[in-house]
Order: sequence, then structure tokens, then C-alpha cells
Amino acid sequence: MPDRNALALAILEAIEEPALIVVGSVVEAANQAARLLLGAMIEGRDLRFAIRHPRALDMILAGRAEELEVIGIGDVDRPWSLSVRPLAKGSVLVRLADRSALRSAERMRTDFVANASHELRTPLATIIGYAETLSEDGPVDEATRERFGSTIETEARRMLRIVEDLMSLSRIEADRFRAPDEQVDMGEVARIAIENAAPLLDRRKCQIQADIEQALPVAGDFGQLLQLADNLIGNAIRYGCNDKSCAISVSVRTDGARVIFVVTDQGDGIAPEHLPRLTERFYRVDSARSRESGGTGLGLAIVKHIVERHRGSLDIRSEAGRGTEVSVTLPAV
Ligand SMILES: Nc1ncnc2c1ncn2[C@@H]1O[C@H](COP(=O)(O)OP(=O)(O)OP(=O)(O)O)[C@@H](O)[C@H]1O
Ligand SMILES: [Mg+2]
Repeated sequence: MPDRNALALAILEAIEEPALIVVGSVVEAANQAARLLLGAMIEGRDLRFAIRHPRALDMILAGRAEELEVIGIGDVDRPWSLSVRPLAKGSVLVRLADRSALRSAERMRTDFVANASHELRTPLATIIGYAETLSEDGPVDEATRERFGSTIETEARRMLRIVEDLMSLSRIEADRFRAPDEQVDMGEVARIAIENAAPLLDRRKCQIQADIEQALPVAGDFGQLLQLADNLIGNAIRYGCNDKSCAISVSVRTDGARVIFVVTDQGDGIAPEHLPRLTERFYRVDSARSRESGGTGLGLAIVKHIVERHRGSLDIRSEAGRGTEVSVTLPAV
């Protein structure tokens, strides 16, 4: 049996979060995380050298079992949850749990609700405006009725698309920990997605150059992989074609134990500052252009979640003025 003191210190060191043992007002021992956060030389010194936050200090010195949410210990802005637990003979165990991940998850959630509400409110306000005019302003001529009716329909369809995309996103998220188990031929998925894109291609007078190997099986969810391919090809057609060129290529190939699906365009590309944010919900580079083409800004967020569920990786490379290449790498079966 090791010496009890040594054992206590070893336990303290084994705690991953910053932890201190304080006796009276002196830091008796501090683990490595605490030394990193509060200073390498705090052991054996007065607690006030380590912690300057007045309420936190008072709470530790009072020595009762208590918790406190604090900002301003160590780094300036980082939020911590500080807990004090009395030990034997006037000593206390102080632990600090980093709350930044929790806070940023909370912020993401509130931002998401605000964004979703805003996205739904805009078409809804238009629908109400037109419907009011139709029902309150007396008789309207046929042409006006048709125009208003069609705007109401367009906006209502946009709302439906947003709601459907949100539902699909939450379904994919709910399945996050359940690995997909169908055997899916990624080449077949790509061929169907190209067929699905035919009406859009016709409208843009554009063709896709396809380079698809034979037999490209992955363990996947067919519906989700098709949704992924539809979105990436749709994006290339909508945002990767300009007046000068519409050169889109889709390739699927194997590379050892991986299947790689790549969609390339030679459009205007995406400026580097936007790249890290593209997979955020509702993020659009050019909102006006995306809205005009019916985009909800949820497509790449859905793609990212599908890739994560398939234990794959997503890579978006783009150069302003030269085009964009999106590749999805999936483990082969
Ligand atoms: N190939 C591309 N070239 C240039 N910009 C692109 C390309 N793909 C995506 N983008 C930009 O990224 C934004 C986000 O794409 P995303 O697929 O998430 O949303 P969306 O296409 O606007 O809407 P949705 O896919 O839900 O219909 C787009 O609005 C567009 O600005
Ligand atoms: Mg899209």
C-alpha cells in the first residue's frame, strides 16, 4: 500500500481538469492542469497568488461545499465552473471545469433558433402581405391575381423546403451514432444524381463530364448518399456556372480502402474567408443569388452530417475566379 499522502497527490494529478488542495489559505498541492492555468509556482504559496477573483477566493476560504460559475480565472474570457469540497482538517479540494464548450454549444443553439425563425419569417411576411391585398383591396384583375398567387406559392414552397431540410438534418443527427449498413454502389448514386440534375442542366444549357469507375461499394445509407450527391451537383450547377463557362465534372474512384466522390466546377469560386463557414446552417456566400435559385443554405450542413455519419471526410477547395472542388471520401466495404 503506497503512502497515503503520495496516493492523495497521485489522485489529484490524475484529475484532468485543474484541481487544487488548499489548506487554510495556502495552496498545498496543485495538479498539472492547475499549474498550467494558474502559474507553475503556486504550490506552497498563498491562494491569492493563484486566484484573484474576489468571489471565488471568498468561497474557497469559506471552505463549504459550493459551486460558482466564474469568468476571469487564468485566461480573460474563459468561463469556468468552480467547485469547492471540504476535505479533512480545514483543507478543501478546489476543481475548475471548463465551460467554454458548453457555452459555445448554447450559443450555437440560440443562433440556430434565431436564424431558422428569421428564414421562415421572411417568406411568411410576404405571403401575409399578398394574401391581405388579395382579400381586402376589393376586386383585382386576373393578371394581378395570378402574379400574387404565384408569389404566394413560391414563398410557401420555400418555407416547405426549409422545414423539410430542417427535418432531414435532425433525422440525420439523430442517427449519428448508428453506422449505416446497406451496401451502396457510390457510382450508381452518382449516375442517379446526374440524371436528377437533368432539368437544371437543360435550363443552364450545361453538361456534366462524368468519370465513374465500376463497382464502388461503400457501407452507406442510399437515400442519404443520394441527397449528398444531389446537393453537391446542384451547387456546382447553381453557383459554379457563369456566363463564360459551365464545365462541371463528377468523378467516383477507389483509392485503396476508400471511395472518393469529387464534384468540380470552373465557376467564380469561393473566397477563402467563407470556406470554413460553408457547412454552418443557413450560411450562404451570396444570399441574394442563393435565395434567387431557391437555396436554403442548409445543403452543405446536411452534407457534412451525412459524411460524419458515414465516418467519411469532406474537403472543399476553391479559388476565387478558378472554381471549386468538393470531395467526399468514404470507407469502402
Ligand atoms: N460550387 C460552388 N461554387 C461557388 N459557391 C458555392 C458552391 N457551392 C456552394 N457555394 C456557396 O455556398 C453556399 C452554401 O451552400 P449550401 O449547399 O449549403 O446552400 P444552398 O445551396 O444555398 O441551399 P440548399 O443547398 O439548401 O438548396 C451557397 O449559398 C453558395 O453561396
Ligand atoms: Mg446547396
